[in-house]
Amino acid sequence: MGVSVPEIMAKKGREKIVMITAYDYTSARIADEAGVDIILVGDSLAMVMQGKNSTIPVTVDEMIYHAKMVKAGVKNALIVVDMPFMSYQADYVEAVRNAGRILKETGCDAVKLEGGREFVPTINNIVAAGIPVMGHLGLTPQSINIFGSYKARGRDEAEAKKIKEDAKFLQDAGVFSIVLESVPKHLAAEITQSVKVPTIGIGAGVLTDGQVLVFHDMLGLFDDFKPKFVKRYAHLKKDAVEAVKQYAEEVRAAKFPTDEHSYL
Ligand code: KIV
Repeated sequence: MGVSVPEIMAKKGREKIVMITAYDYTSARIADEAGVDIILVGDSLAMVMQGKNSTIPVTVDEMIYHAKMVKAGVKNALIVVDMPFMSYQADYVEAVRNAGRILKETGCDAVKLEGGREFVPTINNIVAAGIPVMGHLGLTPQSINIFGSYKARGRDEAEAKKIKEDAKFLQDAGVFSIVLESVPKHLAAEITQSVKVPTIGIGAGVLTDGQVLVFHDMLGLFDDFKPKFVKRYAHLKKDAVEAVKQYAEEVRAAKFPTDEHSYL
């Protein structure tokens, strides 16, 4: 048995929680072997894996396809799967069915959905069905068409107040943790102090209970754009382009394969 939801909740105030995205077997193996607590099959896969310009188009079937590959690569981490746009917004019965499909067909552990107080009945019902839910507040990318940009949220008093209140609503609805995306550090700190469930920040400063980054961002594999909050721990795209260039040169010069890579 790997990391459980109660173990994640018990880390609040004791130990930082490490979360990272993964979308396939190989990235999941890397993240799990590195010892992260939570792997998120994020709907960011629409941008990183599918080359779309937002998370809006990804479907439940596509999330399930990727989540199955992630599950195959994980021995220990808790696996959370994003509920994609329009899989939970229209009505809570459909939301429960989709969350149920995600858990049942993938073997993953929990779902994540974006939004605040308006999703309390939805979260109540998904949790009542035995499915753990992670919340997501602040910059919620499925609402990009309302926001109009990927800028930080909660910078004015009214929006900060709403996000803070929403965190309480989510806690009371039964989420086991809350992602806070692109909000000022002091707001993330206040929310972290005010709720009993762990907060996991991305672009939310160091005072949250944990952090999450997109796998391809932090490894420098995805460089279409770089939000301020992304720290690159490696530059794997550059290394990969160099490696493929070298391979191409060697093939063209008949330097590859040598006898070392041939059957003699
Ligand atoms: O889809 C995703 O990768 C996410 C993280 C940014 C939290 O939701």
